[in-house]
Amino acid sequence: MVTDSPDDIILEMRNISKSFGGVQALKNVSFLCHTGSIHALVGENGAGKSTLMKILAGAYHADAGEIVYKGVSYRTLGTRKAINIGIRVIYQELNLIPEMSVAENIFLGHEPRNFLGLIDNRQLHTRSAELLGRLGVELDLSLPVGELTVANQQMVEIAKSLSQDADLLVMDEPSAILAGHELEQLFKIIEALNEQGVTIVYISHRLEEIFQISDTVTVLKDGEVVGTYATEDISRAQLIHMMVGRSMDEVFPEKKHEIGDAVLVAENITTDIVKNPFNLTLHAGEILGVAGMVGSGRTELARALFGADVIRSGRLLLNGRPVNFRNPKRAVDAGIAFVPEDRKTQGLFMGLPIRNNITIVTIDRLARYGIIQRQQEQQHVTDAQRDLSIVMASQTQEVQFLSGGNQQKVVLAKWLETSPSVVILDEPTRGVDVGAKFEIYELMRQLTEQGVAILMISSELPEILGMSDRILVMHEGHIAGEFSREEATEENIIEVATTGTLMENVDAETN
Ligand SMILES: Nc1ncnc2c1ncn2[C@@H]1O[C@H](COP(=O)(O)OP(=O)(O)OP(=O)(O)O)[C@@H](O)[C@H]1O
Ligand SMILES: [Mg+2]
Repeated sequence: MVTDSPDDIILEMRNISKSFGGVQALKNVSFLCHTGSIHALVGENGAGKSTLMKILAGAYHADAGEIVYKGVSYRTLGTRKAINIGIRVIYQELNLIPEMSVAENIFLGHEPRNFLGLIDNRQLHTRSAELLGRLGVELDLSLPVGELTVANQQMVEIAKSLSQDADLLVMDEPSAILAGHELEQLFKIIEALNEQGVTIVYISHRLEEIFQISDTVTVLKDGEVVGTYATEDISRAQLIHMMVGRSMDEVFPEKKHEIGDAVLVAENITTDIVKNPFNLTLHAGEILGVAGMVGSGRTELARALFGADVIRSGRLLLNGRPVNFRNPKRAVDAGIAFVPEDRKTQGLFMGLPIRNNITIVTIDRLARYGIIQRQQEQQHVTDAQRDLSIVMASQTQEVQFLSGGNQQKVVLAKWLETSPSVVILDEPTRGVDVGAKFEIYELMRQLTEQGVAILMISSELPEILGMSDRILVMHEGHIAGEFSREEATEENIIEVATTGTLMENVDAETN
């Protein structure tokens, strides 16, 4: 076991408190991290994880407490100071500049310069390539980051954080946007960095990851520390109990209704992005799961159904009638809702109040004689807050100040306001805590009981297997397999998602 000599402790945050207006985000939190550890930080949405790490990064100042880093005590840290002493925090919402290149993003703010003081592009490129190489990633360095997949953007973010020496690397939900192969790659990177001597603080809502990579885990609840444990000493059930404050069945809500008629039918559809024609049928009351690797075309398929990308050939039928939305507005009017995966750029207006974000699409319906019925609007938001258990200070709070998981619930609430008959969910529980996850599943069940058809894209296999009536698996831009609920297993989904086919089929064909 580790002894607590000062050298063993890289970081100690002592009695940290922080309030935002009326919300006390952290109460007297103490957090101690051993050198060389992979230390997980867990807790429900809004528990205070990101706030604590933002205080460490110098982005927020604590109201009280002190930070002892490598034996030196600081009342507060500033962002520069934190970087200079070796602390690096990768935030939950990526912080890249989409228009700038991969290399420019990696060295943003401390570009290598030549003797004239000008940016040395050769250096910039070789050193960026070196860093990415260290992570085992190959990327076109001059490509604007906005054109990369989210998984690759994540890699750029990690490379950026390593572009200056780091002793302590905090990753706030780095895995939320990754799946399968990319996730494995992330874990390899974490382990390699850890072997190179970097201490890691790892925040995640996926408990299996906590058990897979961390040696220590600290649980936060409502801004207070519940406790710090050796990961091997606690069980998954214990961890959940500490996080949500009660025992919880991690079972998916049972389906008790029949599936109805076809609602949405896609016949041989192609778009500029989905070049292989695809077919699918979505029935009333059904949950159709779409599995596949990040980048396999799942989102693109959904965009075609939603009118976000122009359909080039084939046809789309809604309740038996051919439709051609051409734009999402018309899809919404026809009763289709699309909850996107990237809430920051596609789902939310960060600077607007929660209330406006929830009613923004449906505001016309809340107007009478051209005047918005404020009371009614408020009631709708109150209902949504209750149905989805959204933790907020008030309806007028700006969305940017909500925790990640609560932002996700606001996006959901917005689309449910449209009373859709078809709901497309792209990674519906990304960044959502265990308790809230199961609330979202309950909600999906309620919707299907009312006859709503759901298309759910997800990288979380337990969720795909637990919720879907049927499962489509995508591979390199086309639907490579379909399974009924009974046939589907984690193994056969992974196999089709990674190879595009099932080995047993190959055998059958050659025999
Ligand atoms: N800048 C801010 N202004 C106002 N309130 C804030 C601000 N930042 C955080 N909060 C509030 O502080 C509390 C803790 O939020 P925090 O983001 O730290 O939670 P979290 O544990 O990271 O949750 P999640 O898992 O959802 O990311 C929440 O109630 C949140 O709304
Ligand atoms: Mg957070």
